[in-house]
Amino acid sequence: MKKVLIAALWLGAGVAQAAQIAMQDQSQLKVPGSQATPVFVPPAESELPDNAFGQMVRQGHALFVDTRRLMPEAVGNGMNCSNCHLDQGRMAHSAPLWGAYPMYPAYRKKNDKVNTYAERIQGCFQFSMNGKPPAADSPQMTALSVYAYWLATGTRTGVETPGRGYPEVPQPKDGYDFKRGEQVYNEQCAICHGGKGEGQKVAGEYVMPPLWGRDAYNWGAGMHRINTAASFIKHNMPLGKPGSLSDQQAWDVAAWINRHERPQDPRLVEGSIEKTRVKFHANDGVNLYGQKVEGVLIGQGTGG
Ligand code: HEC
Ligand code: HEC
Repeated sequence: MKKVLIAALWLGAGVAQAAQIAMQDQSQLKVPGSQATPVFVPPAESELPDNAFGQMVRQGHALFVDTRRLMPEAVGNGMNCSNCHLDQGRMAHSAPLWGAYPMYPAYRKKNDKVNTYAERIQGCFQFSMNGKPPAADSPQMTALSVYAYWLATGTRTGVETPGRGYPEVPQPKDGYDFKRGEQVYNEQCAICHGGKGEGQKVAGEYVMPPLWGRDAYNWGAGMHRINTAASFIKHNMPLGKPGSLSDQQAWDVAAWINRHERPQDPRLVEGSIEKTRVKFHANDGVNLYGQKVEGVLIGQGTGG
């Protein structure tokens, strides 16, 4: 009994201390010239050692930015990792790798277990890349992990580095509207992503990634949630103008994108959209999977 109490006190003190240290660290991370937001600066490529480790980092970087071409067996759509983790996985508020790496292993509700960093990446292969995840001990997975580990040099394990993830954009009180979303899309997004969300290709390779259709992220990807897409979009799009959309516009255009068909959720339960909705989508943020929009069932997939 007494032991438990002491342990609780000790843990409590530990947490308080950790919070204090994190605060100090944040103030140190402030970039001179920028005001409020402290942002971690990952190492520069010029700092890479010219040895086996440095080579592995370079390989991981190549796989991260050129995933589809270098790993065709693992990628089932038109995407590269860096399409959603901008600036080669370096950009704050774009789920940067330096924010991710130090936070694993961690429990994930999505698969109800403690995930290693490799398992977390496998999730993005299965859903965001609509593909077949490479084995955790494969050379590619090692390279991808080493790249993230290197970018995270100097961060603290188990402590959130400011700039991690895609910061939540609260749902506007009047929800979202497809018509307004369509308008935002046509005015500010279609020029790059195409009028039908199909992206743009040059010589057979995507130069602008698709947002829906058979080459886009599938119905199991985090981005299929309107709230997650709104967060990504608000902080990263239109490309080169992050933060320029209002919260309302970000939600409206995210809803417009995510009412369009994309590859089926690979976890499809007994061929039933309704069973899949109940099992995987009913409690997964704000999403349209398995619902009817203007009389059309969403989540039918793109076939093939
Ligand atoms: C279509 C967009 C998209 C693509 C492509 C994509 N991801 Fe992600 N990734 C996300 C989203 C969205 C999240 C956050 C998921 C969530 O909130 O459930 C995420 C999360 C992650 C995380 C965890 C971040 C954290 O802070 O915990 C890692 C690591 C990661 N992705 C790596 C990769 C790798 C490696 C690839 C390529 C194999 C990849 N991603 C491809 C959208 C994408
Ligand atoms: C100037 C061209 C440009 C404009 C305009 C633009 N994007 Fe993008 N978008 C990109 C590029 C390029 C990427 C991939 C980034 C990378 O690989 O570095 C991207 C990535 C994305 C992604 C994640 C990757 C995917 O394919 O799922 C989403 C979602 C997205 N954009 C939505 C939007 C929305 C919504 C708008 C309008 C508000 C918009 N974009 C405007 C060029 C653009």
